[in-house]
Amino acid sequence: MVDSFILGGFMKFFIDTADVDAIKTAYDMGLVDGVTTNPSLIKQAGKDHEATIREIASFVPGPISVETISTTTQGMLDEAEIYQTWGQNIVIKIVMSPEGMQAVKYLSAKGIKTNVTVTFSAAQALIAAKAGATYVSPFVGRLDDIGHNGMDLIEQIRTIYDNYSFQTKILVASVRNPIHLLDAALIGADVATVPPKTLQQLFKHPLTEKGIEQFLEDAKSFSTNG
Ligand code: E4P
Repeated sequence: MVDSFILGGFMKFFIDTADVDAIKTAYDMGLVDGVTTNPSLIKQAGKDHEATIREIASFVPGPISVETISTTTQGMLDEAEIYQTWGQNIVIKIVMSPEGMQAVKYLSAKGIKTNVTVTFSAAQALIAAKAGATYVSPFVGRLDDIGHNGMDLIEQIRTIYDNYSFQTKILVASVRNPIHLLDAALIGADVATVPPKTLQQLFKHPLTEKGIEQFLEDAKSFSTNG
């Protein structure tokens, strides 16, 4: 643990949104090591795709995942070429598919960072690593939604990657609550991508709120502030 800390191997927090204001707020609290987007998040944010990513890249120095929407390898590679011009730190997000893994293999050979998305099994994570993906994104929340335990998958991938010293980073995605984040950290996931609402929930504890309230009340006896 100490060694991994010295080597900078601590857990990263990415923020899972295309809402620029939400990213700025979390960034100012030191909670944004990177950003993940997908077509649904871009649609939700309701602004131009390129302009949104360029704006995020103007203040976030860490990796920003931008998802390709083509179904052919060539289409994905063409999109990747365009996305890379939107910022210095763009990671090409590619769906788990045979065409996608061909694109990942090609891009990783060129030193371009990739994030393999919509992964739901350890076998898929193994394939992504063999293709040379920089990140693999297993969707824990969506697995929980259908009655599986998403975190079991993270444990399996951690074991497999450690067994063979794969360099692909485990990026826990579809995080829905603080427990997902905590479990990801306990398992030793490299990154968790967290929606703004869940980031806010991390601050909450009833004893913290009660404690602050009491201190403020007691401070009134000697302070002239507020
Ligand atoms: C991020 O990379 C994923 O696209 C995202 O976490 C999916 O989350 P959802 O399952 O809540 O849509």
